[in-house]
Amino acid sequence: MELFDVYPLFDIAIERGQGCRVWDDKGQEYLDLYGGHAVISVGHAHPHYVEAIASQVGKLGFYSNSVQNPLQKELAHGLGKACGYEDYQLFLINSGAEANENALKLASFYNGRTRVLSAEKAFHGRTSLAVEATANPKIIAPINANGHVTYLPINDIDAWKAEIEKDDVCAVIIECIQGVGGIRMIEADFLQQLKAACEAHNTVLICDEIQCGYGRSGKFFAHQWLGVKPDMITVAKGICNGYPMGGVLISPKFKPIYGQLGTTFGGNHLGCAGAIAVLDIIESEGLVENANKVGTYLIDTLTAEMKAGNLPHVIDVRGRGLMIGIELDIPYKEPRTRLIQEEHCFTGCAGTNTIRLLPPLCLTMEEADEFIAKFKKVLA
Ligand SMILES: Cc1ncc(COP(=O)(O)O)c(C=O)c1O
Repeated sequence: MELFDVYPLFDIAIERGQGCRVWDDKGQEYLDLYGGHAVISVGHAHPHYVEAIASQVGKLGFYSNSVQNPLQKELAHGLGKACGYEDYQLFLINSGAEANENALKLASFYNGRTRVLSAEKAFHGRTSLAVEATANPKIIAPINANGHVTYLPINDIDAWKAEIEKDDVCAVIIECIQGVGGIRMIEADFLQQLKAACEAHNTVLICDEIQCGYGRSGKFFAHQWLGVKPDMITVAKGICNGYPMGGVLISPKFKPIYGQLGTTFGGNHLGCAGAIAVLDIIESEGLVENANKVGTYLIDTLTAEMKAGNLPHVIDVRGRGLMIGIELDIPYKEPRTRLIQEEHCFTGCAGTNTIRLLPPLCLTMEEADEFIAKFKKVLA
């Protein structure tokens, strides 16, 4: 059997990793400014994470959600403390799309409505309603195009208010830093007015923190820069450093009903053990603060180099913490490919012209400098 060939691949097989480095099957080392698409939070093969996963799978990898699982409670408690949402409730699933799917479903159970507002250029996943909320007609199959979603421009509060005031909007779903959309930032005033409009019209505000959350922006959640508390927050990617897991953080105003939500694999013992280890490492190594420090340094240095004319083709640098977009006046394809093939450095990308940096949160200042030197070389 052949694979169903949907991924354009680099001809590289990564075999192992350590911190912010990975090695291919020929022994070539790479600097990882991509983190396997914002997934590696605490660094590749962190010893505490490896030990937690290894010892848990040796005891019990999985049992169903029909029995007590103290690891789920420990994770919920630790996550509430780490992000400051101790009064919220946690529902665990296996991916980002599932997190958004369940958040939207719960919103609809809550207010009985079916309309969703989402942003232009938004990405929320590839399943049923998550893909419908994703502003990319190429990945919305006819069976998913059910007319639930209106897409609106970010930071244009009048456009969002005009829809919310119709009193029929179930939920607003928004990334406070758009990832796939090219590192576009939501403004504080916009989000605060959006939240007020949602509250006034019984619309549920969902912040999709799947890519921008879990410390990446330099605060635990990106919306925490903007002074707003959403009704639900969705997480995945960095939560378990590569083991598939997602979560919905749910405000106390939503009351759980037995059987209304559910999953076979979500919240399994192995994932919980890994996610608890991730929170331990984030705290003990100060990784949220590190993301802020090293990210600010990267953004400031890249911006200064751009302004000094030392980064030809770079026309904008934007982002927060270790979620950075570098926009070029040429397609990213050649510089990104040369970064990998000649400088042995992985980066992400967005649209046609933006290089996206999503490194592990343990990136050091020295590694940031190393990236800048490599980037300068390929642009020279
Ligand atoms: C903001 C955002 N939401 C949702 C998703 C979907 O997550 P998953 O691929 O785990 O389903 C992604 C994935 O890239 C994302 O960046």
